[in-house]
Amino acid sequence: MDADDIRAAFLTHMESTGHERIPRSSLVPTDPTTLFTGSGMQQLLPVLLGEPDPRGTRLTDSQPCFRAQDIDEVGDERHTTFFEMLGNWSVGDYFKQHQIDTFFRFLTDVVGLDPHRLYVTCFIGDPHHNIPRDDEAALIWQAAFASRGIDAGIAQIGSAAAGDARGIMGNERIFFYDADENWWSRGGNLSSTPIGDPCGPDSEVFYDFGPQHQDPSYGLAHPASDGGRFLEIGNQVFMQYQREENGTFSPLNRRIVDFGGGLERIAAAALGVPDVYAVSVLAPLLKVVEMLSDTTYAAAPGPMRVIVDHVRGAYFLAVDGVIPANKERGYVMRRLIRRAITTARTIGLREQFFAPLVAELGAIYARAYPETVERGDAILATLRREEKAFRRTLDGGLRALARFQGRTLTGADIFMLSDTFGFPPEITIEESEKLNIAVSKDWDLVYRRALQEQRERSRASSKLGAENMPQ
Ligand code: ALA
Repeated sequence: MDADDIRAAFLTHMESTGHERIPRSSLVPTDPTTLFTGSGMQQLLPVLLGEPDPRGTRLTDSQPCFRAQDIDEVGDERHTTFFEMLGNWSVGDYFKQHQIDTFFRFLTDVVGLDPHRLYVTCFIGDPHHNIPRDDEAALIWQAAFASRGIDAGIAQIGSAAAGDARGIMGNERIFFYDADENWWSRGGNLSSTPIGDPCGPDSEVFYDFGPQHQDPSYGLAHPASDGGRFLEIGNQVFMQYQREENGTFSPLNRRIVDFGGGLERIAAAALGVPDVYAVSVLAPLLKVVEMLSDTTYAAAPGPMRVIVDHVRGAYFLAVDGVIPANKERGYVMRRLIRRAITTARTIGLREQFFAPLVAELGAIYARAYPETVERGDAILATLRREEKAFRRTLDGGLRALARFQGRTLTGADIFMLSDTFGFPPEITIEESEKLNIAVSKDWDLVYRRALQEQRERSRASSKLGAENMPQ
């Protein structure tokens, strides 16, 4: 099954079990405190917090997500800024048994994953807050594996670091971790769960690509390790508690399941390849880059992943109406476009390449997201305008940077390059590394001070008071 088949099959599987398919939300959330939609549940937050949903108690969708915090990680086999999250929710309807059974059947019967390659995690409990170990979820998993003739052992791990030292023993397949790994709340951790909020343990599902994929520098392999052997493909959040005014946790009246599964990751598991860029929604983009550049994916995997991830991310931001700018969402989009262009230069791709990639993206997503076709011309115009403008900036900035060879670049120089040439500091740093130009240790401090001083100067010379400046 490729990614398209998996997306369609998931939604059909959920609809056949009484879920209402809801429209995806925009990558620009209605909540003004959040830059981007980073998970499927974001649009359902009011419902999770107690509002009724007229669409029913069983919901499903496929949600484009964007996680700007991962931008610097892109380049390895598993990180992307943009991804699709398959989601299903039960609002006061079914709970752990039905969720675990349904997802297990989807992965094994529908997608065809070998159950021997699935490993799961559950919450170990927190005696201090009187929250028991999630034996309920662990036993449901054990029965699910037993139904396929698999004797799944249960391991008490604790922290991910403890897992790095301990690894997996015998037939272990179900792992109990602490709240850092297996607790969900809007505040992140258990002790930072906001008062009044629903929260609870979660149970994650991992695909095992095999021991040969574990990087030993991460310690012994276990599901919550970042070592490469295991890839998280789904997370089932079981909201069953509510935080009280006095900080304790009481049972929630209306229990909720929030499931999110990474489409590209499930597709990578289906391929049996631990590289999410090999799946059907990304591989055709790599082919385009291979054709345009003078190298292959095998020879330059890191740069090619950055290019296709960033163009895809910028593309979907354009679909949802974001335009490149100097702050907030527009700045993140600008950064994606600029990094794609500077990275492309490193593999000999110097001419404009957004148009052919946008055409390929249109073909990939036309069926699942028809809005990509409807807005096609506007999207291309937005991206090409920015691409063209940045190419001019880049040529000037790179020529200026090259003159620093043999010297140490200071924060003041970096400020000058950004102020005069519009050359963003993070690109200066990246390019300096490539050109072997040393950068002073305190550049960040000096750069920020210079930026602050410039802001104060322009504020003082402006007739507008600071309070009248647009935010
Ligand atoms: N909302 C949950 C997550 O993002 C499913 O992992």
